[in-house]
Amino acid sequence: MTHTTAHFGKDLIGLESLSAEQILLILDTAEPFKEISERRIKKVPVLRGKTIVNLFFEPSTRTRISFEFAEKRLSADTVNITSTGSSVVKGETLVDTARNLEAMRIDMVVIRHGSSGAPRFLSERIPSNVVSAGDGSHEHPTQALLDLLTIRDRLAKIEGARVCIVGDILHSRVARSNIYGLTKLGAEVGVCGPPTLMPVDIEELGVTVFRHVEEAIEWADVLNVLRLQLERMQGGYVPSLREYNRIYGVSRARLERASKELLILHPGPMNRGVEIDSDVADGPDSVILDQVTNGIAVRMAVLYLLAGGAPEKAESAKGGVEE
Ligand code: CP
Repeated sequence: MTHTTAHFGKDLIGLESLSAEQILLILDTAEPFKEISERRIKKVPVLRGKTIVNLFFEPSTRTRISFEFAEKRLSADTVNITSTGSSVVKGETLVDTARNLEAMRIDMVVIRHGSSGAPRFLSERIPSNVVSAGDGSHEHPTQALLDLLTIRDRLAKIEGARVCIVGDILHSRVARSNIYGLTKLGAEVGVCGPPTLMPVDIEELGVTVFRHVEEAIEWADVLNVLRLQLERMQGGYVPSLREYNRIYGVSRARLERASKELLILHPGPMNRGVEIDSDVADGPDSVILDQVTNGIAVRMAVLYLLAGGAPEKAESAKGGVEE
């Protein structure tokens, strides 16, 4: 079993270590895969014979199901493991869990973990391909890739676009991956949120900090609105959710005061009425469900490339429909 590719390396741990060319390669490879999900029979034999384990140690709706659909639509065999349903609850370590899976001859592991660095730790210890599905407050690479694809779909190009990430930047792996991806592709990136939820050295990542959401809205072409990560807050970051909504909430009234229309993204899950109001989330400028649709194509592209698929053959690889 070989687990390397000329284009892409063994693993996808984050966007920090990828070049602009590699990121564009994933986005371009995702394009032909979009159409598979629109077919009556949503299946091609691209990863037939590959075994992929989805190892989710944190709750997830979108990412877990999206990876599973991507794997199944490429004809891989998939197994889903959650921490509560595995021997992790009996004290088995992450590496022991993975080594036991390796002994069953798997090819890839998709891992979500609450600890930053867990995917890299695993990737250095097992020969299977490792794909991060989000780790702690470190990175969520496939979320940022699907965000980039969605922005590119609407604006035609990412270079020169002004994208402001609004909300809880401190705890957000989505923010970090987006900042790496967007800046590498030539976007201008802003961040906006309470000082208590803003990393002190955030400007070093090449972003502009906005203290007022009204300024951010006036500056940006795109808002990527992040949820308040209530489970990662021990209290004290914001006075109250109502206060947060009053000062930083993305509302229809705030958007209507801007001199142009903005594209609205949110990675989900949303706290409606906190970081985003329902009439914005469900409004005409929202591409939140387009993000979810694009997530499958992006994850198909990542799995295809990691399995050694040639980007230039992605179009023909999807040709074979399985009846
Ligand atoms: N965007 C995202 O990661 O959502 P889930 O936590 O539902 O996977």
